Amino acid sequence: MKMDKMTTVKIRARKGREKIVALTAYDFFTAKFLDSVGIDMLLVGDSVNMVLYGKPDTLSATMDIMLAHTEAVASAAVRSLVVADMPFLSYQVSWEEAVRNAGRFLKESGAAAVKLEGGCEIAPLVSRLVGMGVPVLGHIGMQPQSYHKYGGYCLQGETKESREYLLKSARSLEEAGVFAIVLEKVEANFTKVITDTVSVPTIGIGSGPFCDGQILVVNDILGMFDGFKPRFARQYDDFRSRIKDAASRFARDVREGRFPEKKESFFEEEG
Ligand code: KIV
Repeated sequence: MKMDKMTTVKIRARKGREKIVALTAYDFFTAKFLDSVGIDMLLVGDSVNMVLYGKPDTLSATMDIMLAHTEAVASAAVRSLVVADMPFLSYQVSWEEAVRNAGRFLKESGAAAVKLEGGCEIAPLVSRLVGMGVPVLGHIGMQPQSYHKYGGYCLQGETKESREYLLKSARSLEEAGVFAIVLEKVEANFTKVITDTVSVPTIGIGSGPFCDGQILVVNDILGMFDGFKPRFARQYDDFRSRIKDAASRFARDVREGRFPEKKESFFEEEG
């Protein structure tokens, strides 16, 4: 496996050649392990708010939370490209705030790029950020920060209006200079239309097989959640059971006097 540092330019150049593999990451050690097995891109998603802080949605994620987790992930990533998710209200209020907040991810936390949710309406802002040297990953389809607007985490690209909006948005983000576009929960055949239309890679989540890459939330692939798992996520392990099992065995050992043993203790006579 080639272990040269991933850049936004290399991700961009993967279009039509090699699939892009991406996962979310929120902490140092998970990021280190993901980096070591060649995950191309680590997204410090605002999903951190749900999977690490137990909040019902992503809306209350703050710049402070996102900067701290991005710094942890960027410190661990040797090869993977680290992308920071811009939280709700960090780029919608004014261009001035958007520029400052986007810049902070590169300047203070070591990210190489930022992700913004939104279509053609944010293309001028994207163009400004890219113009000042901040690479941008687009995110269209189901946008979790706008779930109140959709009335839920609904599939996108089913109606004529939705398809027109998605295509227009993908084109305008491409023109604004994004290096790739995340397509979240877009009808699979229409995803192919978008992928075939734009010259930048599409990275799908819940959008079927016709993308240039795939991204999932790391907690979903590890089985590190309680309750709802999206249908589109494939679970590769069951950390929930493993954690419960390890903690239960520890509790039993302590209660039954089997922990600590001599080898796990320091007695004076040993020095
Ligand atoms: O916050 C997030 O996890 C995302 C997804 C694209 C994975 O935005």
